[in-house]
Amino acid sequence: MLSNLTASLPSSAIVTVFNRAIELRAQGHDLIDFSVGEPDFDTPEHICEAGMRAITEGATRYTATDGTAALKDAVRRKFTRDNALEFSRDQIITCSGAKPLLATAVQAVLNPGDQVIIPTPAWASHLGMVAMVGGHLKQVETGMATGFKMSAPQLQATITPKTRLLLLCSPSNPTGAVYSRQELSQLASVLRQHPDIVVISDDLYEHIVFEGASFATLAGVAPDLSERILTVNGVSKAYAMTGWRIGYAGGPKWWADGIRAILSQTNGGSCSISQIAATAALDGPQELLAERCKTYLKRRDFALDRLAQIPDLKVATPDGAFYLMPECGNLIGRQRALDGGISTIETSTDLADYFLDCGIVVVPGAGFSCDPYFRMSIATSEGLIEEGLNKIARACDALQ
Ligand SMILES: Cc1ncc(COP(=O)(O)O)c(C=O)c1O
Repeated sequence: MLSNLTASLPSSAIVTVFNRAIELRAQGHDLIDFSVGEPDFDTPEHICEAGMRAITEGATRYTATDGTAALKDAVRRKFTRDNALEFSRDQIITCSGAKPLLATAVQAVLNPGDQVIIPTPAWASHLGMVAMVGGHLKQVETGMATGFKMSAPQLQATITPKTRLLLLCSPSNPTGAVYSRQELSQLASVLRQHPDIVVISDDLYEHIVFEGASFATLAGVAPDLSERILTVNGVSKAYAMTGWRIGYAGGPKWWADGIRAILSQTNGGSCSISQIAATAALDGPQELLAERCKTYLKRRDFALDRLAQIPDLKVATPDGAFYLMPECGNLIGRQRALDGGISTIETSTDLADYFLDCGIVVVPGAGFSCDPYFRMSIATSEGLIEEGLNKIARACDALQ
Protein backbone atom coordinates (compact mmCIF):
# COMPACT_ATOMS: atom_id res chain seq x y z
CA MET A 1 0.00 0.00 0.00
CA LEU A 2 1.23 3.49 -0.77
CA SER A 3 2.09 5.90 2.03
CA ASN A 4 -0.55 8.53 2.85
CA LEU A 5 1.72 11.24 1.45
CA THR A 6 2.32 9.44 -1.84
CA ALA A 7 -1.33 8.55 -2.25
CA SER A 8 -2.33 12.18 -1.69
CA LEU A 9 -0.02 13.62 -4.36
CA PRO A 10 -2.05 15.35 -7.08
CA SER A 11 -1.84 13.64 -10.46
CA SER A 12 0.08 15.73 -12.94
CA ALA A 13 -1.88 17.33 -15.79
CA ILE A 14 1.38 17.28 -17.76
CA VAL A 15 1.76 13.52 -17.39
CA THR A 16 -1.87 12.97 -18.41
CA VAL A 17 -1.38 14.87 -21.68
CA PHE A 18 1.98 13.22 -22.22
CA ASN A 19 0.51 9.72 -21.83
CA ARG A 20 -2.38 10.45 -24.19
CA ALA A 21 0.07 11.84 -26.75
CA ILE A 22 2.08 8.59 -26.54
CA GLU A 23 -1.12 6.59 -27.08
CA LEU A 24 -2.18 8.67 -30.09
CA ARG A 25 1.28 8.43 -31.64
CA ALA A 26 1.22 4.65 -31.20
CA GLN A 27 -2.07 4.66 -33.13
CA GLY A 28 -0.29 6.45 -35.99
CA HIS A 29 -1.44 10.04 -35.34
CA ASP A 30 0.92 12.76 -36.48
CA LEU A 31 1.27 15.27 -33.61
CA ILE A 32 3.03 18.62 -33.35
CA ASP A 33 4.48 18.67 -29.90
CA PHE A 34 4.62 21.98 -28.03
CA SER A 35 4.80 20.26 -24.65
CA VAL A 36 8.44 19.29 -24.22
CA GLY A 37 10.58 21.65 -22.18
CA GLU A 38 13.90 20.95 -23.82
CA PRO A 39 16.10 22.57 -26.43
CA ASP A 40 15.82 20.99 -29.89
CA PHE A 41 19.55 21.65 -30.47
CA ASP A 42 22.18 18.93 -30.16
CA THR A 43 24.73 18.95 -27.35
CA PRO A 44 27.77 20.83 -28.78
CA GLU A 45 30.48 18.62 -30.24
CA HIS A 46 33.29 19.57 -27.84
CA ILE A 47 31.07 18.50 -24.92
CA CYS A 48 30.18 15.16 -26.54
CA GLU A 49 33.87 14.59 -27.26
CA ALA A 50 34.76 15.18 -23.61
CA GLY A 51 32.11 12.61 -22.66
CA MET A 52 33.46 10.05 -25.14
CA ARG A 53 37.04 10.63 -23.95
CA ALA A 54 35.85 10.09 -20.36
CA ILE A 55 34.65 6.61 -21.30
CA THR A 56 37.76 5.59 -23.21
CA GLU A 57 40.00 6.94 -20.45
CA GLY A 58 38.14 4.86 -17.87
CA ALA A 59 36.38 7.58 -15.86
CA THR A 60 33.60 5.13 -15.13
CA ARG A 61 33.62 4.76 -11.38
CA TYR A 62 31.70 6.26 -8.46
CA THR A 63 32.57 9.86 -7.68
CA ALA A 64 32.06 11.83 -4.47
CA THR A 65 28.36 12.32 -3.66
CA ASP A 66 28.47 16.05 -4.43
CA GLY A 67 30.60 15.65 -7.58
CA THR A 68 34.22 15.63 -8.63
CA ALA A 69 36.55 18.42 -7.52
CA ALA A 70 37.00 19.30 -11.22
CA LEU A 71 33.28 19.82 -11.78
CA LYS A 72 32.79 21.71 -8.52
CA ASP A 73 35.66 24.03 -9.47
CA ALA A 74 34.15 24.56 -12.93
CA VAL A 75 30.85 25.46 -11.23
CA ARG A 76 32.68 27.91 -8.94
CA ARG A 77 34.31 29.56 -11.97
CA LYS A 78 30.90 29.77 -13.65
CA PHE A 79 29.33 31.47 -10.62
CA THR A 80 32.23 33.97 -10.48
CA ARG A 81 32.18 34.66 -14.23
CA ASP A 82 28.43 35.00 -14.78
CA ASN A 83 27.01 35.99 -11.40
CA ALA A 84 29.89 37.53 -9.38
CA LEU A 85 29.17 34.92 -6.70
CA GLU A 86 32.12 33.43 -4.80
CA PHE A 87 31.78 29.98 -3.23
CA SER A 88 34.26 27.65 -1.60
CA ARG A 89 34.25 24.06 -2.83
CA ASP A 90 32.23 22.85 0.18
CA GLN A 91 29.45 25.31 -0.70
CA ILE A 92 28.90 23.63 -4.07
CA ILE A 93 26.72 20.60 -4.79
CA THR A 94 26.39 18.86 -8.12
CA CYS A 95 23.71 16.25 -8.73
CA SER A 96 21.96 14.14 -11.38
CA GLY A 97 19.99 17.10 -12.75
CA ALA A 98 18.67 20.25 -11.15
CA LYS A 99 15.35 18.51 -10.52
CA PRO A 100 16.54 16.04 -7.85
CA LEU A 101 18.83 18.73 -6.47
CA LEU A 102 15.88 21.10 -6.01
CA ALA A 103 13.78 18.36 -4.42
CA THR A 104 16.62 17.49 -2.02
CA ALA A 105 17.20 21.15 -1.19
CA VAL A 106 13.51 21.50 -0.31
CA GLN A 107 13.61 18.30 1.75
CA ALA A 108 16.68 19.56 3.61
CA VAL A 109 14.95 22.65 5.02
CA LEU A 110 11.26 21.79 5.39
CA ASN A 111 9.41 20.18 8.25
CA PRO A 112 5.88 18.92 7.57
CA GLY A 113 3.45 21.85 7.83
CA ASP A 114 6.05 24.53 7.06
CA GLN A 115 4.76 27.09 4.61
CA VAL A 116 6.38 27.62 1.23
CA ILE A 117 5.70 30.66 -0.93
CA ILE A 118 5.68 30.11 -4.69
CA PRO A 119 4.45 32.66 -7.20
CA THR A 120 2.08 31.00 -9.68
CA PRO A 121 1.90 30.08 -12.53
CA ALA A 122 4.72 27.82 -11.38
CA TRP A 123 6.58 24.82 -12.73
CA ALA A 124 4.59 21.73 -11.74
CA SER A 125 7.59 20.06 -10.14
CA HIS A 126 8.23 23.01 -7.82
CA LEU A 127 4.70 22.50 -6.50
CA GLY A 128 5.15 18.73 -6.33
CA MET A 129 8.45 18.90 -4.44
CA VAL A 130 6.81 20.84 -1.65
CA ALA A 131 3.86 18.44 -1.49
CA MET A 132 6.25 15.46 -1.34
CA VAL A 133 7.67 16.54 2.01
CA GLY A 134 4.39 17.67 3.53
CA GLY A 135 5.07 21.39 3.02
CA HIS A 136 2.11 23.73 2.95
CA LEU A 137 1.96 25.68 -0.27
CA LYS A 138 1.11 29.40 -0.18
CA GLN A 139 0.64 30.43 -3.77
CA VAL A 140 0.97 34.05 -4.82
CA GLU A 141 -1.19 34.39 -7.89
CA THR A 142 0.27 36.56 -10.63
CA GLY A 143 -1.23 37.41 -13.99
CA MET A 144 -0.60 38.88 -17.38
CA ALA A 145 -1.23 42.43 -16.14
CA THR A 146 1.80 42.27 -13.82
CA GLY A 147 3.99 40.34 -16.24
CA PHE A 148 3.43 37.18 -14.14
CA LYS A 149 5.66 38.60 -11.38
CA MET A 150 5.14 38.70 -7.63
CA SER A 151 5.52 42.18 -6.12
CA ALA A 152 7.19 42.95 -2.79
CA PRO A 153 3.83 43.91 -1.17
CA GLN A 154 2.34 40.60 -2.35
CA LEU A 155 5.27 38.73 -0.79
CA GLN A 156 4.95 40.70 2.44
CA ALA A 157 1.21 40.00 2.64
CA THR A 158 1.69 36.26 2.15
CA ILE A 159 4.35 35.72 4.82
CA THR A 160 3.17 34.24 8.12
CA PRO A 161 5.15 33.08 11.16
CA LYS A 162 5.08 29.57 9.61
CA THR A 163 6.71 30.60 6.33
CA ARG A 164 10.03 28.82 5.91
CA LEU A 165 10.86 28.85 2.20
CA LEU A 166 10.44 31.07 -0.86
CA LEU A 167 10.94 29.46 -4.24
CA LEU A 168 11.77 31.84 -7.07
CA CYS A 169 12.23 30.92 -10.72
CA SER A 170 13.50 33.55 -13.17
CA PRO A 171 13.33 33.32 -16.15
CA SER A 172 10.19 31.42 -15.31
CA ASN A 173 9.00 28.10 -16.52
CA PRO A 174 6.14 28.39 -17.57
CA THR A 175 5.67 32.15 -18.15
CA GLY A 176 9.10 33.39 -19.27
CA ALA A 177 8.86 36.24 -16.72
CA VAL A 178 12.25 37.69 -15.76
CA TYR A 179 12.70 39.59 -12.47
CA SER A 180 14.86 42.70 -12.84
CA ARG A 181 17.59 43.63 -10.33
CA GLN A 182 15.30 46.27 -8.93
CA GLU A 183 12.39 43.87 -8.46
CA LEU A 184 14.66 41.35 -6.74
CA SER A 185 16.06 44.08 -4.56
CA GLN A 186 12.50 44.98 -3.46
CA LEU A 187 11.81 41.33 -2.61
CA ALA A 188 15.11 41.26 -0.68
CA SER A 189 13.96 44.24 1.43
CA VAL A 190 10.96 42.18 2.54
CA LEU A 191 13.11 39.12 3.24
CA ARG A 192 15.44 41.19 5.47
CA GLN A 193 12.52 41.62 7.86
CA HIS A 194 12.00 37.84 8.07
CA PRO A 195 15.28 36.19 9.00
CA ASP A 196 13.78 32.68 9.28
CA ILE A 197 12.86 32.46 5.60
CA VAL A 198 15.29 30.73 3.25
CA VAL A 199 15.19 31.06 -0.53
CA ILE A 200 15.80 28.80 -3.49
CA SER A 201 16.57 30.64 -6.70
CA ASP A 202 16.00 28.37 -9.70
CA ASP A 203 18.13 29.91 -12.45
CA LEU A 204 17.92 27.13 -15.04
CA TYR A 205 16.99 29.50 -17.87
CA GLU A 206 19.63 32.13 -17.00
CA HIS A 207 21.08 32.18 -20.50
CA ILE A 208 17.78 32.53 -22.33
CA VAL A 209 16.94 36.19 -21.68
CA PHE A 210 15.89 38.51 -24.49
CA GLU A 211 16.82 42.10 -25.37
CA GLY A 212 15.22 44.65 -23.09
CA ALA A 213 15.56 42.37 -20.06
CA SER A 214 18.66 41.21 -18.24
CA PHE A 215 19.32 38.34 -15.91
CA ALA A 216 19.89 38.89 -12.19
CA THR A 217 19.93 36.44 -9.32
CA LEU A 218 18.89 37.14 -5.74
CA ALA A 219 22.21 36.15 -4.12
CA GLY A 220 23.99 38.64 -6.39
CA VAL A 221 21.50 41.41 -5.72
CA ALA A 222 21.40 40.89 -1.94
CA PRO A 223 24.78 39.46 -0.85
CA ASP A 224 23.87 40.16 2.79
CA LEU A 225 21.25 37.37 2.50
CA SER A 226 23.71 34.83 1.09
CA GLU A 227 23.58 32.68 4.26
CA ARG A 228 19.99 31.77 3.34
CA ILE A 229 19.93 31.62 -0.46
CA LEU A 230 20.59 28.51 -2.50
CA THR A 231 21.26 29.32 -6.17
CA VAL A 232 20.38 26.37 -8.40
CA ASN A 233 21.34 25.96 -12.03
CA GLY A 234 22.25 23.23 -14.50
CA VAL A 235 23.57 22.39 -17.93
CA SER A 236 20.30 21.00 -19.37
CA LYS A 237 18.80 24.10 -20.93
CA ALA A 238 21.95 26.19 -21.48
CA TYR A 239 24.00 23.58 -23.32
CA ALA A 240 21.21 21.32 -24.63
CA MET A 241 22.26 18.57 -22.22
CA THR A 242 18.91 17.43 -20.83
CA GLY A 243 19.80 13.74 -21.09
CA TRP A 244 23.20 14.06 -19.44
CA ARG A 245 21.54 14.84 -16.10
CA ILE A 246 23.80 17.35 -14.36
CA GLY A 247 22.54 20.15 -12.12
CA TYR A 248 24.44 22.21 -9.58
CA ALA A 249 23.95 24.68 -6.76
CA GLY A 250 25.92 27.14 -4.65
CA GLY A 251 24.83 28.34 -1.24
CA PRO A 252 25.59 28.41 2.47
CA LYS A 253 27.66 25.50 3.76
CA TRP A 254 25.00 24.47 6.31
CA TRP A 255 22.47 23.93 3.51
CA ALA A 256 24.99 22.24 1.21
CA ASP A 257 25.95 19.89 4.09
CA GLY A 258 22.28 18.95 4.58
CA ILE A 259 21.82 18.24 0.87
CA ARG A 260 25.05 16.19 0.82
CA ALA A 261 23.81 14.15 3.77
CA ILE A 262 20.53 13.29 2.04
CA LEU A 263 22.13 12.62 -1.34
CA SER A 264 24.65 10.28 0.26
CA GLN A 265 21.71 8.06 1.23
CA THR A 266 19.67 8.46 -1.95
CA ASN A 267 21.29 9.51 -5.21
CA GLY A 268 24.97 8.99 -4.46
CA GLY A 269 27.13 10.80 -7.00
CA SER A 270 25.92 11.60 -10.51
CA CYS A 271 27.18 9.92 -13.70
CA SER A 272 31.00 10.21 -13.84
CA ILE A 273 30.97 10.62 -17.64
CA SER A 274 28.35 13.36 -17.56
CA GLN A 275 30.35 15.21 -14.90
CA ILE A 276 33.32 15.39 -17.26
CA ALA A 277 31.08 16.55 -20.11
CA ALA A 278 29.48 19.20 -17.85
CA THR A 279 32.95 20.41 -16.80
CA ALA A 280 33.79 20.85 -20.50
CA ALA A 281 30.51 22.73 -21.02
CA LEU A 282 31.10 25.16 -18.15
CA ASP A 283 34.79 25.73 -18.93
CA GLY A 284 34.51 25.70 -22.74
CA PRO A 285 33.48 28.37 -25.26
CA GLN A 286 30.39 30.26 -24.13
CA GLU A 287 29.55 32.11 -27.38
CA LEU A 288 27.01 29.46 -28.32
CA LEU A 289 24.76 30.59 -25.44
CA ALA A 290 24.15 34.01 -27.02
CA GLU A 291 23.79 32.50 -30.49
CA ARG A 292 21.14 30.04 -29.35
CA CYS A 293 19.38 32.76 -27.40
CA LYS A 294 19.07 34.76 -30.65
CA THR A 295 17.39 31.76 -32.28
CA TYR A 296 14.92 31.47 -29.38
CA LEU A 297 14.15 35.19 -29.72
CA LYS A 298 13.41 34.81 -33.43
CA ARG A 299 11.10 31.90 -32.70
CA ARG A 300 9.36 33.81 -29.92
CA ASP A 301 8.68 36.79 -32.19
CA PHE A 302 7.56 34.54 -35.03
CA ALA A 303 5.12 32.69 -32.72
CA LEU A 304 3.83 35.93 -31.16
CA ASP A 305 3.09 37.37 -34.63
CA ARG A 306 1.09 34.29 -35.60
CA LEU A 307 -0.70 34.13 -32.23
CA ALA A 308 -1.75 37.77 -32.61
CA GLN A 309 -3.88 36.62 -35.55
CA ILE A 310 -5.85 34.18 -33.37
CA PRO A 311 -8.44 36.48 -31.74
CA ASP A 312 -9.50 33.96 -29.08
CA LEU A 313 -6.04 33.79 -27.52
CA LYS A 314 -4.22 36.53 -25.62
CA VAL A 315 -0.54 36.18 -24.92
CA ALA A 316 2.04 38.20 -22.99
CA THR A 317 5.51 38.72 -24.43
CA PRO A 318 7.92 36.61 -22.38
CA ASP A 319 11.33 38.12 -21.60
CA GLY A 320 13.07 34.76 -21.34
CA ALA A 321 12.97 30.95 -21.51
CA PHE A 322 11.27 29.19 -24.43
CA TYR A 323 7.63 29.06 -23.40
CA LEU A 324 4.48 30.99 -24.26
CA MET A 325 1.48 31.01 -21.98
CA PRO A 326 -1.62 31.98 -23.98
CA GLU A 327 -4.76 32.93 -22.06
CA CYS A 328 -7.71 30.99 -23.46
CA GLY A 329 -10.69 32.28 -21.42
CA ASN A 330 -12.63 33.07 -24.64
CA LEU A 331 -12.71 29.38 -25.52
CA ILE A 332 -14.05 28.20 -22.18
CA GLY A 333 -17.77 27.40 -22.47
CA ARG A 334 -17.54 26.68 -26.20
CA GLN A 335 -18.55 23.34 -27.62
CA ARG A 336 -16.76 20.70 -29.62
CA ALA A 337 -17.88 17.56 -31.40
CA LEU A 338 -16.90 14.46 -29.42
CA ASP A 339 -17.78 10.76 -29.88
CA GLY A 340 -20.75 11.60 -32.10
CA GLY A 341 -22.10 14.14 -29.60
CA ILE A 342 -21.24 17.60 -28.28
CA SER A 343 -18.98 18.36 -25.34
CA THR A 344 -18.32 21.66 -23.55
CA ILE A 345 -14.77 22.95 -23.01
CA GLU A 346 -14.84 23.75 -19.30
CA THR A 347 -11.16 24.01 -18.39
CA SER A 348 -7.75 24.37 -20.00
CA THR A 349 -7.40 20.61 -19.53
CA ASP A 350 -10.47 20.06 -21.76
CA LEU A 351 -8.97 22.47 -24.27
CA ALA A 352 -5.60 20.66 -24.26
CA ASP A 353 -7.49 17.38 -24.81
CA TYR A 354 -9.33 18.91 -27.73
CA PHE A 355 -6.10 20.31 -29.23
CA LEU A 356 -4.59 16.85 -28.89
CA ASP A 357 -7.44 15.42 -30.96
CA CYS A 358 -6.62 18.14 -33.51
CA GLY A 359 -2.96 17.02 -33.62
CA ILE A 360 -1.28 19.57 -31.29
CA VAL A 361 0.21 18.82 -27.87
CA VAL A 362 0.14 21.66 -25.31
CA VAL A 363 0.21 21.54 -21.51
CA PRO A 364 -2.93 22.79 -19.72
CA GLY A 365 -2.50 25.64 -17.24
CA ALA A 366 -3.85 23.39 -14.47
CA GLY A 367 -0.39 21.76 -14.46
CA PHE A 368 1.09 25.12 -13.39
CA SER A 369 -1.74 26.07 -11.05
CA CYS A 370 -3.28 28.55 -13.44
CA ASP A 371 -6.42 28.49 -15.54
CA PRO A 372 -7.55 29.34 -18.18
CA TYR A 373 -4.11 29.24 -19.78
CA PHE A 374 -2.02 26.66 -21.60
CA ARG A 375 1.74 26.38 -22.06
CA MET A 376 3.49 25.98 -25.39
CA SER A 377 7.17 25.21 -25.65
CA ILE A 378 8.62 26.90 -28.72
CA ALA A 379 11.99 25.17 -28.57
CA THR A 380 11.29 23.87 -32.04
CA SER A 381 11.70 25.03 -35.65
CA GLU A 382 9.79 27.99 -37.12
CA GLY A 383 8.28 25.57 -39.67
CA LEU A 384 6.75 23.43 -36.93
CA ILE A 385 5.68 26.49 -34.94
CA GLU A 386 3.85 27.80 -38.01
CA GLU A 387 2.23 24.46 -38.79
CA GLY A 388 1.18 23.96 -35.16
CA LEU A 389 -0.24 27.46 -34.78
CA ASN A 390 -2.17 27.08 -38.05
CA LYS A 391 -3.71 23.94 -36.59
CA ILE A 392 -4.50 25.76 -33.31
CA ALA A 393 -6.15 28.59 -35.28
CA ARG A 394 -8.32 26.11 -37.19
CA ALA A 395 -9.17 24.24 -33.99
CA CYS A 396 -10.28 27.50 -32.28
CA ASP A 397 -12.43 28.42 -35.31
CA ALA A 398 -14.09 25.01 -35.25
CA LEU A 399 -15.39 25.48 -31.69
CA GLN A 400 -19.05 26.50 -31.47
C1 LIG B 1 12.46 25.71 -13.95
C2 LIG B 1 13.15 24.41 -14.07
N1 LIG B 1 14.00 24.03 -13.10
C3 LIG B 1 14.63 22.84 -13.15
C4 LIG B 1 14.44 21.98 -14.20
C5 LIG B 1 15.15 20.64 -14.18
O1 LIG B 1 16.30 20.64 -14.94
P1 LIG B 1 17.23 19.34 -15.02
O2 LIG B 1 17.12 18.84 -16.41
O3 LIG B 1 18.61 19.85 -14.70
O4 LIG B 1 16.77 18.36 -14.02
C6 LIG B 1 13.57 22.32 -15.23
C7 LIG B 1 13.31 21.38 -16.33
O5 LIG B 1 12.36 21.46 -17.08
C8 LIG B 1 12.91 23.57 -15.17
O6 LIG B 1 12.06 23.96 -16.13
